[in-house]
Amino acid sequence: MSTPAPHRVYVPGDSGALSVGAGQVAQAIQSEAARSGLALDLIRNGSRGLYWLEPLVEVETAAGRVAYGPVRAEDVPDLFAAGFLAGQPHRLAQGLTAAIPYLAGQERLTFARMGLGDPLSLEDYSANGGLAGLERAIGLSPDQIVQELTASGLRGRGGAAFPTGIKWAKVRETAADRKYVVCNADEGDSGTFSDRMLMEGDPYCLIEGMAIAALAVGADQGYIYTRSEYPHACRTLGLAIERARAAGLLGPDILGSGHAFDLELRMGAGAYICGEETALLESLEGRPGLVRSKPPLPAVCGLFGRPTLVNNVISLASVPIILSKGAAFYRDYGVGRSHGTLPFQLAGNIRRGGLVEKAFGLTLGDLLYDYGGGSASGRPIRAVQVGGPLGAYVPESRFDVPLDYDAYARMGAMIGHGGIVAFDDRVDMALMARHAMAFCAQESCGKCTPCRIGSRRGVEVIDRIIGNRERAKNLALLESLCDTLRHGSLCALGGMAPDPVQSALRHFPEDFGIAPDPKR
Ligand SMILES: Cc1cc2nc3c(=O)[nH]c(=O)nc-3n(C[C@H](O)[C@H](O)[C@H](O)COP(=O)(O)O)c2cc1C
Ligand code: SF4
Repeated sequence: MSTPAPHRVYVPGDSGALSVGAGQVAQAIQSEAARSGLALDLIRNGSRGLYWLEPLVEVETAAGRVAYGPVRAEDVPDLFAAGFLAGQPHRLAQGLTAAIPYLAGQERLTFARMGLGDPLSLEDYSANGGLAGLERAIGLSPDQIVQELTASGLRGRGGAAFPTGIKWAKVRETAADRKYVVCNADEGDSGTFSDRMLMEGDPYCLIEGMAIAALAVGADQGYIYTRSEYPHACRTLGLAIERARAAGLLGPDILGSGHAFDLELRMGAGAYICGEETALLESLEGRPGLVRSKPPLPAVCGLFGRPTLVNNVISLASVPIILSKGAAFYRDYGVGRSHGTLPFQLAGNIRRGGLVEKAFGLTLGDLLYDYGGGSASGRPIRAVQVGGPLGAYVPESRFDVPLDYDAYARMGAMIGHGGIVAFDDRVDMALMARHAMAFCAQESCGKCTPCRIGSRRGVEVIDRIIGNRERAKNLALLESLCDTLRHGSLCALGGMAPDPVQSALRHFPEDFGIAPDPKR
């Protein structure tokens, strides 16, 4: 008599899922199966990004993967009793995972493999479309790879949205004895987690993207710079790099191409400024994270004085699918000059927080209500900070503006790394403006005066406005200070700190006592 195939169960090993008990749930499932004498194949997959349902447990059935969540360790005996291993109904059942509307409505290109298999299994990676991009790239010339990237319309996902193809071409054409590829995995923006999710849930995708970048620009060494607050991502990436090396995906002859490329992982201490590319390079070289003056651009003179390609995790992780499916496939997603998809991250006061990868062109309203389900508190959403701590606050009247780099720039906002942080109608926007200035003062690297000193004075001026001390005079002073920060700062930390402050003033003047409060 043949032994029945073990039941296949998936419990995410992602740190977001672990933070709400996925580890204990996995243990409880193992124990319950052992107690019942059931053979189990328990896979610790990446998170699907439906964070409000974590820990999201999935079971393989003949009809497809069935999801249950949010599961607590105490729910496990009950799930076994209900027959969840066969996908049977239960109060935590969410139906077929692929049919959950939050997931079914997405356009997952960069995150296509997320949650499907064991993040460290190269077999799972290849079985789900991995390595096809690198294999194609090996058959192209470096210039052809750069042309493909340029034609895809990909723009940097780290914040500045600079065209990736132009940057690659610059590193490619700069002659040097050595070049580097550096992945910016610092991910310091508030409300963002897509880099971390990708590193934990699909690390080979980043490695593949970096290997393609190395072929294109002529680099033989790469670094991934991440932060000590991401211990799970570091562990997973470290193991993935070792396995990729053992499998010949990294090393002296990547996939038998004759090209050498190897990778090292570096951890920063979590300073926000170390996400700025030149401060990051300083930190990688072992010095404090002080911003470098530009020019020279890192593409010409970067790490250890050599031409260096610095790209964000999501930019690099989007490369394999562009190469495997072709530039036109990717370019066809999106609107205007915003091509492809962006993994938006819903955070803050939102009922269904998580990752939503969609083509550019949908609106904040679509994300907040169709996906996010409105605020977690059930109160009206009043303001949303888009694009991290330097992003503008968007009021409800602008929730219908398409998420497109240019449309957002026209309204004085930015999409940045796709972080969406929602606030309900109890938020005090004057305090949020103060917080933005205080953040700048706290995180300033101190190299230039407008940011180092101006941000501190900014906090004091906002305090005087809030306290109604010579309000008109201090409002004029704040405007002038913002102007100095915007035009006199060496980098975008000081240069963009005025954006949240001035957007709060513009859209919520009643919170500063300079307009009647409609609620009173
Ligand atoms: C203060 C500051 C913090 C930044 N933090 C990050 C970060 O955490 N991750 C990131 O990818 N880019 C960050 N950037 C943008 C980088 O300087 C750079 O533009 C980016 O790494 C380039 O990659 P991309 O073209 O793929 O976006 C930051 C910029 C500034 C000014
Ligand atoms: S703007 Fe601020 S963070 Fe940027 S270089 Fe100047 S002091 Fe440093």
